Amino acid sequence: MFRILHFKNHSLSCRGHFSSHPRYNSIPLLITHFRHTFCTTRKDSGQNKYRSESSRPKLSKKSEQANYPLDTLREDISIILNDISGIGRSLIVNALEPTNNMEGGDLILPLPKIKVANPVAVAKRWATELSAYGSLGKVCAKGPFLQFFFDQKYLLQSAVPSILLQKERYGQEKSCLQKKVVVEFSSPNIAKPFHAGHLRSTIIGGFLSNLYEAMGWSVVRMNYLGDWGRQFGLLAVGFEKYGNEKALEKQPIQHLFEVYVQINKDLAEEEKENDTSQCGISSRARTFFKKLENGDQNATKIWNRFRSLSIHHYIQTYSRLNINFDIFSGESQVSKESMDEALNIFYQNHLVEEKDGALVIDLTQWSKNLGKAVVQKSDGTTLYLTRDVGAAMERKKDLKFDKMVYVISSQQDLYMSQLFMILQKMNFDWAKDLNHVNFGMVQGMSTRKGNVVFLDTILDEARDKAFQI
Ligand code: ARG
Repeated sequence: MFRILHFKNHSLSCRGHFSSHPRYNSIPLLITHFRHTFCTTRKDSGQNKYRSESSRPKLSKKSEQANYPLDTLREDISIILNDISGIGRSLIVNALEPTNNMEGGDLILPLPKIKVANPVAVAKRWATELSAYGSLGKVCAKGPFLQFFFDQKYLLQSAVPSILLQKERYGQEKSCLQKKVVVEFSSPNIAKPFHAGHLRSTIIGGFLSNLYEAMGWSVVRMNYLGDWGRQFGLLAVGFEKYGNEKALEKQPIQHLFEVYVQINKDLAEEEKENDTSQCGISSRARTFFKKLENGDQNATKIWNRFRSLSIHHYIQTYSRLNINFDIFSGESQVSKESMDEALNIFYQNHLVEEKDGALVIDLTQWSKNLGKAVVQKSDGTTLYLTRDVGAAMERKKDLKFDKMVYVISSQQDLYMSQLFMILQKMNFDWAKDLNHVNFGMVQGMSTRKGNVVFLDTILDEARDKAFQI
């Protein structure tokens, strides 16, 4: 199963849907994957280098030797069009784009991009002329665009032998060999169940890591656990009220989850009644978390227990998925020094303003829709965002990555844009090397309300179904 998933991995990062497209229904996964994956977009083709003397240009020897079929075809298109029109080859190669869906073909050439006058008419003419070259498959005009539908047999015959020959080296890029990428993925929240919502980040992150590795990158797989924050205060208060030592020993995750759901119900009641007293759940939870941030021994002991029980369980679940991590990091691991350093830089760069005792960065000055972000609460406790800033600084310092990828659901799109903007405004030149790979959320689940589907349940069901086949 893992091998199959591994191949899907390659296709996934380029376009999530094409292996299910009707055009490819009958084609094994292996064939569909190479078409869009290991094509390097060459931006450096020499202009007119291969211009042929004859009226029907011969395709270059060099292009026939290109590693990947799509590269070869890009070059062929540029040679032919250069011959027809005299337009520079590099301009053409750069203008050729992958398509968004398979109905649009394998590659598309927007003629306005290569500065053609009367692009609609020219697209029609070129489509006929280019179709005469059997090797390019079917070429269609769509408005000012040229769509290329390559011949599948050709793709198959040109890719499979080199895949078989190069084996796992197929797809490796020399330029990647010295580079390091940190892929942060999965990152569940401790003491909350590892539910289906985390499955996507886990699978996509695992695939991406494999893909980078296949291309020659040195990959650091990192799990950034949600192991800090107010929910621990809430859980501790809940455990005082509903906790049961025996149940905790026997089924830690399940029990902590039940406690978490119960205390959230109580909290909702409290919020309805507008109870803001010192002995209310909310304020007790806040006090506990504050103690935790100040290193209080008793609070730390309770937190540590919840944390290690949860991690122990995660490791078992990951091994069922054949996923492993090089680093189990987490929000709790971000040092106070890094966060202080971050706050200092905020001040030095005049990024923060004070509002009701809290520290806020007004991001609207750079981009309207980024809003304002709180980086320190009025009670002095740090926030998810500040921890992420500190974590990114530490990772750059310790791991010296060339690129870092965060695999996080699209629910956190705005948050990630805020984080990246803040790092950029802190003047870190490496802020440009950060990427957010997002994905849609699994709908209708809420840990707080208790209606989640546990990942373990899904895996159990998948296993049982597989055995039935
Ligand atoms: N623990 C978070 C959640 O489940 C995801 C963490 C994402 N990573 C990060 N660096 N913020 O929502």
